[in-house]
Amino acid sequence: MDTIIKKINEEELEPGCLQDAAAILQKKGLVAFPTETVYGLGGDALDTEAAKKIYAAKGRPSDNPLIIHIADVDSLKDIAEEVPEQAYQLADKFWPGPLTMIMPKSNKVPYGTTGGLNTVAIRMPSNKIALQLIRESGVCIAAPSANLSGRPSPTKAEHVIEDLSGKIDMIIDGGAVGIGLESTIVDLTSEVPTILRPGYITKEMLEEVVGTVDIDKTITAKSMDPNLKPKAPGMKYKHYAPKADLTIVEGTEQAVVDKINEFASQKMEQGCLVGVIATDETFSKYKANCVMTLGSRNDNEQIARGLYAILRDFDEQQVDVIYSEGFADTNLGQAIMNRLLKAAGYHVVEV
Ligand code: TXA
Ligand code: MG
Repeated sequence: MDTIIKKINEEELEPGCLQDAAAILQKKGLVAFPTETVYGLGGDALDTEAAKKIYAAKGRPSDNPLIIHIADVDSLKDIAEEVPEQAYQLADKFWPGPLTMIMPKSNKVPYGTTGGLNTVAIRMPSNKIALQLIRESGVCIAAPSANLSGRPSPTKAEHVIEDLSGKIDMIIDGGAVGIGLESTIVDLTSEVPTILRPGYITKEMLEEVVGTVDIDKTITAKSMDPNLKPKAPGMKYKHYAPKADLTIVEGTEQAVVDKINEFASQKMEQGCLVGVIATDETFSKYKANCVMTLGSRNDNEQIARGLYAILRDFDEQQVDVIYSEGFADTNLGQAIMNRLLKAAGYHVVEV
């Protein structure tokens, strides 16, 4: 299949400029598009065949449900059997934006979209291209991240082209995304709203609106406990992973630098190509084949924005092993560490 690549500037959106993309969605085809979090791979959420195509293009296990993207709060009534009051309160505060809510699904939503679950994940993205695409197509768009299953989520159109070119109808190139990590997922079907995936919207931010919020135990766990099963099926996979083995080293700055340099020198002696994920504060202190910085340790937003691209860059450099510094897991840091730990298969060395 030839994949059409269409460049669009989010700030210069003309009415009708997404008509071709909208027509593809209406005909049950697939269109990758930018959101503020990561690029999504969109198809008609209410059509089983379109959902099947999404799973096939990504190579995604079919028990891993999709998020439905809407452009108006009113659409909630269509796709949810019952909309909890908290959903309206949270939508009022955080939509459009990087928050996904889980609620009971309506009959209109096929099990092919929800991975067989009776609940459905819904979000209203804030990216203007995404919103206009939903409106112009009149389609509720199911959109997982637009990467091949198991690869880091795409934060630029180039990443989507790498993974999905030739497999889908169109890729809309709207430039680099703003946030860089997937949306926060909050489950509203449990007694206390529960975060199933941390993201830009933090527990504290949610609690200001709906009171106490829990966090799924598998998120705060520092190791993969076989007895704990995450409630978001997608969170159980070794996700976001670069091809090389990644190890996180945690401790005081100097101890971390020394330990990583020690590991790196051993590995280079064995003939391995070694990558290091550094910060601006430590960048010049490492001796390895390929050292890249995520930016200042004090700038979580920049770290979040650049993390997946760096993991892909290391794939391109074909490094054999990667060492990364750890980050404080408070606020946005919790989402950063959650993704980094998964990429590392929970391999952490404390010094
Ligand atoms: O920021 C995002 O959310 C991006 C952009 C494209 O919107 N999308 C995204 O989709 O990250 P995906 O498919 O990569 O991740 C969806 C996550 C998976 O972990 C899945 O298990 C969980 O949402 N999920 C979806 N429906 C669910 C449900 N009914 N119950 C529990 N978890 C659900
Ligand atoms: Mg994903």
